[in-house]
Amino acid sequence: GVTGRFRRLVYAYFREHGRTLPWREAATPWQVLVSEVMLQQTQVERVIPKYRTFLERFPDAAALAVAPTADLLIAWQGLGYNRRALALHKAAAQVVTDFGGTLPDTPQLLQQLPGIGPYTAGAVAAFAFNRPTVFLETNIRAVLLHLFFGDRQEVPDRELLPLLEASLDRQRPRHWYNALMDYGSDLKRRFPNPSRRSRHHAVQGRFEGSNRQLRGAVVRL
Ligand code: ADE
Repeated sequence: GVTGRFRRLVYAYFREHGRTLPWREAATPWQVLVSEVMLQQTQVERVIPKYRTFLERFPDAAALAVAPTADLLIAWQGLGYNRRALALHKAAAQVVTDFGGTLPDTPQLLQQLPGIGPYTAGAVAAFAFNRPTVFLETNIRAVLLHLFFGDRQEVPDRELLPLLEASLDRQRPRHWYNALMDYGSDLKRRFPNPSRRSRHHAVQGRFEGSNRQLRGAVVRL
C-alpha cells in the first residue's frame, strides 16, 4: 500500500544518506531535550558544537537548575533567541522539583514544562523514549507537502497530522522520525525553492486510511 511505499522510500534514503548526529547516539532524555530546544530555531550545523559544550557544563537538569543565569547565557552564546535558554532554565528547575530530576516520558507531562510546546514535547517523547507520538516540524512538513500535496505550501496541520498518524512506524518511532527528518532536510537543501522541488516520484496512488482527508490525499510515491 501507499503507507508501505512511503516508509520504504524514506527508509531507503536513510540507509544510504542518514546523518550521524550527536543527540542520536545513546543520548539521555535531558540531552535530547537540550538538542530539541536548540534546534527549534537554529540550524543543525550551528547546534552541534554548542550542544557538546553546553552538555559538558550542564550534564543534567539538576546542574542547570542550580546554575546562575549568567553562566547559562555564556553557554548559550551563538545560538540566539535567549528566551529559549531562560525557559530551559525554568524547565530544568521544574524537572527537579516536580519529577525528581528525570524528564517525564509523555507529551502531556512534557508540555507542562516552560518552553516546551506540542512539537518539542512530541519530539522528545519520540526521540528520548521511543514513544509513537505524532508531531510536525519543518522538515517533516516538507516531506509531506512534497510527497502528498505536490509542494503546495499552505496545507494546514489538520490535513498533515492524519497522514503522519497513519504512516508512523509504531515499532520504531525514533528510527522513523530520524529518517523522516533527514529526508526532509535533504529535500530542502536540494530544492530551496519549494515550487521547484522535483517531482521524481510521480506514480500516483491513494492513501488507504479510514480518515476521509487521508483517502483524498493524492500520493506521489
Ligand atoms: N530538527 C529538529 N529536531 C531535529 C532532530 N532531532 N534531528 C535533526 N534535525 C532536527
